[in-house]
Amino acid sequence: MRTISIVNQKGGCGKTTTTVNLAGALAADAARVLVLDMDPQAHASLALGAKPDEIEENLYEVLVEPEGAKRLGEIILPVSGGVDLAPAGIVLSALEQKLAAGNQEARTERLAAALNSLETNYDFVLIDCPPAVSLLTFNALRASQEVIVPLETSSFAVDGVQKLLETIALLMDRVGHRLAVRVLPTLYDGRTRYARETLGEIRELFKDLCFDSVIRLNVKLREAAQKGVPISQYAPRANGAVDHAALAMEVAACAPEVADSLPATSRVEAEALGTAEPREVVIEYRDSEAGDVRIAGDFNGWVPDRGVLSRVQAEGRTRVWVKVLTLPPGTYQYRYFVDGEWKVDPSNQQSSPGPMGQTNSVLHVR
Ligand SMILES: Nc1ncnc2c1ncn2[C@@H]1O[C@H](COP(=O)(O)OP(=O)(O)OP(=O)(O)O)[C@@H](O)[C@H]1O
Ligand SMILES: [Mg+2]
Repeated sequence: MRTISIVNQKGGCGKTTTTVNLAGALAADAARVLVLDMDPQAHASLALGAKPDEIEENLYEVLVEPEGAKRLGEIILPVSGGVDLAPAGIVLSALEQKLAAGNQEARTERLAAALNSLETNYDFVLIDCPPAVSLLTFNALRASQEVIVPLETSSFAVDGVQKLLETIALLMDRVGHRLAVRVLPTLYDGRTRYARETLGEIRELFKDLCFDSVIRLNVKLREAAQKGVPISQYAPRANGAVDHAALAMEVAACAPEVADSLPATSRVEAEALGTAEPREVVIEYRDSEAGDVRIAGDFNGWVPDRGVLSRVQAEGRTRVWVKVLTLPPGTYQYRYFVDGEWKVDPSNQQSSPGPMGQTNSVLHVR
């Protein structure tokens, strides 16, 4: 069973369209597919022909109590396109508050536990996430091994993607396992130069992490959602159906290698230096206010403090975070993650624009 979350905190980039139509295309090819609708807006449920207002029990019941995990099987409905659905409802938006008091660890594991207890086996579980990095998204990532990030080629924002990938890197750290992240260009209008250039940029930036498939702009996709059926049923010859069928082939062909989610130029450079022995590098971060300081860079896949020895010492009222890195010679980019915010190293004058336009600090190991 492959569990894939469709994630992007940006609204309207095609998460739900991807979830529903990829599910439809996989099911049309005889795969057993379950869609989990984790968005309180319940758009995926609607687009698969369910009526969330009339459904009494949805994922809320599964997630709100630890015992609910066993009930996932009970809320699953067969819907259009030969797909099974665990529906959402507006009540899901209350989940965050409801679980706020609970133990941090346990409340992010609810969905994973529910999937583990599923008696029916699926080939694919696709999880449609809300446009937010919330407890719902976190539950989805925790239950997944793979992530698809739809990127709108009509209004591609490098900053937003950078933030999203950093968030995924941070979540990966907390999720406790690696996630294979791939990006999918969506809403592509090949008639505009802007879209063609943007697609080129996305491919250059993400290289192997970018699907070969591209989802073109196709009004039939919107119509199919309104009718409550996947495009493979509504208009099997439309571009939208062709594109999602190609995507399904690509997804089914192989599970991706777990790669670092951020393009890492300097690691390649370091590797090119060959067999040079790794060295111990010590860097320090001083702050009198910060509570939690971690370091992330292309040397650790941008996962804060992964592979880093870290200790804190006091210097009067100032606290000093000492980070010990063991790195082969090369040039590295990094930033600090201070109480949930990314910061360049204030004591390092050397910085460089990162691969996605943000500013990173630069570290040379000789
Ligand atoms: N390739 C496409 N061609 C035409 N319309 C599309 C395409 N992809 C998505 N749409 C339409 O754009 C709108 C937003 O798409 P969708 O709901 O899939 O995005 P989303 O990322 O799930 O949004 P949200 O963040 O609100 O959940 C919908 O009306 C959908 O039908
Ligand atoms: Mg959506």
